[in-house]
Amino acid sequence: MTEKKIIAVVGATGAQGGGLVRAILSDASGGFTARAITRNVNSDKARELAQQGAEVVAADVDSLESLKKAFQGAYGAFCVTFFWEHFSPQKEFAQAKAMATAAKHDGLEHVIWSTFEDTRKWVPLSDNRMPTLMGKYKVPHFDAKGDANQVFTELAVPTTFLLTSFYWENLINFGMGPKKGPDGKLAITYPMGDKKLPGIAAEDIGKCAYGIFKKGREFIGQTVGVAGEHLTGAQMAAALTKALNQEVRYNDVPPEVFRSFGFPGADDIGNMFQFKRDFQEVFCGPRHPSVARALNPSLQTFAGWLAQNKSRIPLE
Ligand SMILES: NC(=O)c1ccc[n+]([C@@H]2O[C@H](COP(=O)([O-])OP(=O)(O)OC[C@H]3O[C@@H](n4cnc5c(N)ncnc54)[C@H](OP(=O)(O)O)[C@@H]3O)[C@@H](O)[C@H]2O)c1
Repeated sequence: MTEKKIIAVVGATGAQGGGLVRAILSDASGGFTARAITRNVNSDKARELAQQGAEVVAADVDSLESLKKAFQGAYGAFCVTFFWEHFSPQKEFAQAKAMATAAKHDGLEHVIWSTFEDTRKWVPLSDNRMPTLMGKYKVPHFDAKGDANQVFTELAVPTTFLLTSFYWENLINFGMGPKKGPDGKLAITYPMGDKKLPGIAAEDIGKCAYGIFKKGREFIGQTVGVAGEHLTGAQMAAALTKALNQEVRYNDVPPEVFRSFGFPGADDIGNMFQFKRDFQEVFCGPRHPSVARALNPSLQTFAGWLAQNKSRIPLE
């Protein structure tokens, strides 16, 4: 019997990494085992992963030494950072660098780095159509991830660069779901005009990552984008209307209005939506759902995701 290849999964108790761990564990004959990385091996989520068959190990992406230990003996690793825990692009870059360095040190054969575009390639800081944030970013939670791609490349880590999409779970737990207006009617509010927003069920990102690992070396050095569907705000509202059996409208607002909403990160997310709106081809082009479906045949559509999750969407 050939020995199974270990995939060390950062963020294993979270959305992307959790999806990957579950995908590995649910394919017993797939040739891989999951090493779930967490800061707290005793948390309920970590224990649950252990019960499901994952090897659970402690590491913190702020500690290079802990990452080196956690990646040791693994074939591959899934690397992701957690912008919304600290709101610091500099920290995100440092964490990505630590993961790339540990992967190099331990001689990993395949790393998937969950990244985004560095939007400054298309919107230089001198471009005033959107404000520069934190001194040197346009979309802070994108730009440092994209900037960190070079670290994986410079260290010659065998890497697949995974471009992810807007989680539809944001409608449940990121305040992006339908809200009642002064007229009592429900509406989703995104500054996307009539442009399409690539979206995905968060669980499908991990399943796609598993599909990439299963392909061996095929995608190393390449950028792979994943989305379940590309939908306009109006199309999302129509799908919500059908699923919830009550009218949900799409409220298109200018990005500057969205940026002024005042919740933490509203300016970052306003710029993000504006980038997706104004550079539609750049953003949608590399995230064709057919690519994601080839990697993950059970890829969900928005309607399919809604059928499973509509009762979890708070209607405020
Ligand atoms: N929301 C969206 O639409 C969206 C879409 C695409 C990409 N993203 C990106 O996704 C990233 C977050 O990924 P996610 O949603 O999978 O995360 P998540 O669900 O928030 O999970 C984060 C997990 O990572 C672990 N973690 C946090 N800080 C850590 C640290 N210092 N060291 C080690 N582990 C740590 C935590 O586990 P323990 O507590 O067990 O350690 C936690 O369970 C963000 O950078 C965001 O920009 C978001």
